Amino acid sequence: MTSSAAIMDRYSQVMFPATTPYHGDNPLVVERAKDQYIWDIEGRRYLDFFGGILTVSVGHCNDEITERTMAQLQKLQHTSTIYVNEIMVRLAEKVAELTPGRLQKCFFSNSGTEANETAVLAARMYTGNPVVITLRHAYSGRSMLAMSLSAQRPWRLGGVNDPYVRHVRNPYTFRAPAGLTAEQVVDLCVQDLEETIATGTEGRIAAFMAEPIQGAGGFIVPPEDYFKRILPIVKEAGGVFIADEVQTGWGRTGGKWCGIEHWGVEPDIMTFAKGMGNGSPIGCTIATPEIADAVQGLTFSTFGGNPVTMATTLATIEYMEAHDTPRNCAEQGARMSEKLGEFAAEFPIIGEARGMGLMQAIEFVKPGGMEPDAAITVAFVDTCKEKGLLLGKGGLYGNVVRIAPHLNVGDEDMDIAMDIVAAALAELS
Ligand SMILES: Cc1ncc(COP(=O)(O)O)c(C=O)c1O
Repeated sequence: MTSSAAIMDRYSQVMFPATTPYHGDNPLVVERAKDQYIWDIEGRRYLDFFGGILTVSVGHCNDEITERTMAQLQKLQHTSTIYVNEIMVRLAEKVAELTPGRLQKCFFSNSGTEANETAVLAARMYTGNPVVITLRHAYSGRSMLAMSLSAQRPWRLGGVNDPYVRHVRNPYTFRAPAGLTAEQVVDLCVQDLEETIATGTEGRIAAFMAEPIQGAGGFIVPPEDYFKRILPIVKEAGGVFIADEVQTGWGRTGGKWCGIEHWGVEPDIMTFAKGMGNGSPIGCTIATPEIADAVQGLTFSTFGGNPVTMATTLATIEYMEAHDTPRNCAEQGARMSEKLGEFAAEFPIIGEARGMGLMQAIEFVKPGGMEPDAAITVAFVDTCKEKGLLLGKGGLYGNVVRIAPHLNVGDEDMDIAMDIVAAALAELS
């Protein structure tokens, strides 16, 4: 059998080096996966608590979903949107049913990047204004526009610069000026938004776009009244609100289908990808009827609405409904959050443990201060892998560990994972 090392040697010859895998000199070369487990090509089994970046939402090669994917594959694989298939309509109906407020009309594509492109296009055509305001530490994807919307240096490549994107302060309470309360951090954010509109625009904007919880930014959870205070300013400037639910969607934050519902506000446009399709390539933009209808002219995505992707995604969402995974996210998320809180109190290398539902993070610092510690973050994720647990990294400074198990994770796996996290923390402290 070919070894991991041999495959990596070939990989480096034929792949762009920017697609750097995790785990440095010892990357994980995957052979297969089932439910919560991944096996490498040497036959070692890992408990997956990152799900291909919050994407394999209800288990690898989930039997119930795979069966429906296979059935669709044998029936109708592709037509593009020049013809209609019912499964696409059924999925759009389901998304409209489960999303809040007046969100009703969908555009399907293949990725979060495309979903966000579509959202910005719709906002610009609806308002007749090009300016989009988004948050520092955001991650929106990898097209030129999406990289412009993103506000983390490592993810902005190639001289990217959409002239109409403005970034404002994000509600990152842990890294706000020392001593500020959550309420004062929101005050600062409000002030920055008002100043940006007053000084960096003509007073009118197309959209304010935000992830309810910043994902790649390191699971940054805004204070309770953040969106309620931001949105009136956005509306006053004529803008619509785009909620990027690519990471927070589909129950992950616990108890609600969409992350933004925890903040009691209604977006005008929402975008989804990742966990929506349990690993099939999907992007979805849903908008209010009047915004969707404003996208006049010709646009299409060859694979958007692909019947196999639609069937897999519908099966995924129906599986979530049948197993009430939003409730499981709330329950298991509470257990994980309690454990991580205990670890934060015990280990000074943890600056903060935070999160919501099954979107939990630990931010590493040099003990006794606030200085981000990226080296210990890498060591921690590698140590967990050696102990059989897969986790993710994130944060502008590369010092946040993201823990995001499958939405149907059970007690036993959660306990095993938390034991490994505890052992790795003790080893590295
Ligand atoms: C919040 C958010 N939006 C958009 C994207 C882009 O999605 P994709 O990689 O599917 O293009 C990502 C990817 O990580 C994301 O986390």
